[in-house]
Amino acid sequence: MLALVVFAQLFSSGLSPVELGRTPTVMISAETCVGCHATVHGEWQKSGHGQAWTDAIFQREYRERPLAWCVHCHAPLAQQLAEVRAGGGRLANEGVTCAVCHVREGKILAARRRATSPHVTVADESFGGPQFCAGCHQFNFPRFASDGKTVVGYGPVPMQNTVSQHAAGPDAETPCLSCHGRSPSRHRMPGAHDPEMLGRAFGVSVCRSGAAVVVRVENRGAGHRLPTGDVHRHLALRVWRPSTPERLWEQLWLRRFRALDGGGKEQVEDTTLAPRERRLSRIELASLGGASDEPVSTELRLVFTIDEFPLPTRPLDAPSYAVVWRDSRRFSDMDACPE
Ligand code: HEC
Ligand code: HEC
Ligand code: HEC
Ligand code: HEC
Ligand code: HEC
Repeated sequence: MLALVVFAQLFSSGLSPVELGRTPTVMISAETCVGCHATVHGEWQKSGHGQAWTDAIFQREYRERPLAWCVHCHAPLAQQLAEVRAGGGRLANEGVTCAVCHVREGKILAARRRATSPHVTVADESFGGPQFCAGCHQFNFPRFASDGKTVVGYGPVPMQNTVSQHAAGPDAETPCLSCHGRSPSRHRMPGAHDPEMLGRAFGVSVCRSGAAVVVRVENRGAGHRLPTGDVHRHLALRVWRPSTPERLWEQLWLRRFRALDGGGKEQVEDTTLAPRERRLSRIELASLGGASDEPVSTELRLVFTIDEFPLPTRPLDAPSYAVVWRDSRRFSDMDACPE
């Protein structure tokens, strides 16, 4: 069962770089594939995978704490790690490149082999399923060697829990790629940086109930909690009146952790939204101040990285959050909430 053996060991969950084994140098870079797979290459280049190394948010955090562990997932090939150690370069900039997912021992790995394929291909239909994605999208807080830099294994608390959340939720039978693989070649794999995906994920509405504004937020379309993925991700629901911004009402939904004595982390809070979960937030109009006919502004943000995150010397050349939803209307113009 060559296929099963090969597929089970595709990724090390970040514990080591990806070794391609006996693979001709020409198969390592995406530049080799672009000539025959232009559509795939174009989508991949714009994807989180194609930008996993050059991404400004990643680079800011990585430069502050440049661990080999990060490189194992964001530019996973052993050849990329060597390049990073030598100061970086074109191959490292390819991030999660084609060969990371598709090449081992000089062979192409795929879900199926096409009749016109020129490759020596090992095909198995588990390729691209949730367990495949888990190789990088499911892992716990790491344990470090005494140097504080070398990751030697994982503790018991999930750091990214997307695949388990999916398996435990109402969309467990819907593969990741049914939602994330809708582009022509399935390689665009949009997520939190894609406005259309955010629109599909969240259902938001405002209404009035007595003397209060009620905001309803639902995880309508994601197959896992929102947010999921990176630990810094959080949602901020904000309600205010423009003339009295100092009375802004704000609610955060996130995961919070605490460092344990002797290393490791403990999760102390998880207010992320489960699939199909609805939250109602009730804000007394009087608490917002402002004039009675002044519009009420409502905004839901998905924050990628904390602006105040202690890297003041490293300005970020990318938006630190996305506006998922924004509304501004007079209280008297809001619909009454359904009973
Ligand atoms: C000389 C042209 C050519 C080059 C170069 C090439 N491919 Fe292909 N590849 C094909 C053709 C033709 C097919 C089959 C039909 C299709 O998908 O277009 C194919 C199929 C595949 C498949 C599906 C499995 C299969 O065997 O049918 C994968 C995965 C793949 N290629 C990956 C790669 C990667 C990764 C690279 C770069 C290292 C690459 N290819 C370079 C022509 C090429
Ligand atoms: C994060 C992992 C990942 C990366 C990176 C990746 N692919 Fe894929 N690729 C997949 C998955 C998963 C599928 C199978 C999708 C499916 O089941 O239809 C696939 C399918 C393919 C296919 C076969 C499509 C078919 O006809 O069945 C080709 C060709 C291919 N990839 C080429 C590439 C090339 C070229 C690159 C780099 C430019 C690349 N892939 C990067 C995961 C990846
Ligand atoms: C080899 C590691 C690896 C594998 C395998 C992998 N990913 Fe990723 N993926 C990443 C990394 C690293 C990022 C973060 C890129 C960045 O820094 O923005 C990412 C980003 C993403 C994003 C974008 C997230 C966002 O916030 O915009 C989506 C969606 C995604 N992956 C889906 C998948 C799916 C679905 C699969 C399985 C078919 C998969 N990935 C397999 C490493 C991987
Ligand atoms: C039912 C559809 C659906 C399924 C199934 C699904 N996702 Fe998502 N996913 C979404 C939507 C919609 C978003 C955009 C919302 C967002 O990013 O906040 C998203 C966002 C993400 C993100 C961005 C992270 C973040 O915090 O915003 C990642 C990474 C991701 N998905 C990976 C996966 C993986 C891996 C699987 C399979 C184990 C999967 N998704 C299954 C719909 C789905
Ligand atoms: C086991 C694999 C793995 C390791 C190790 C890893 N990451 Fe990631 N990282 C991911 C995946 C998968 C995502 C995509 C999920 C998401 O976008 O929320 C991601 C996303 C991110 C993002 C969000 C990027 C964005 O555009 O919003 C940042 C920042 C980041 N990682 C930084 C790091 C740093 C710094 C390290 C090392 C200290 C590291 N990562 C180690 C897998 C990993």
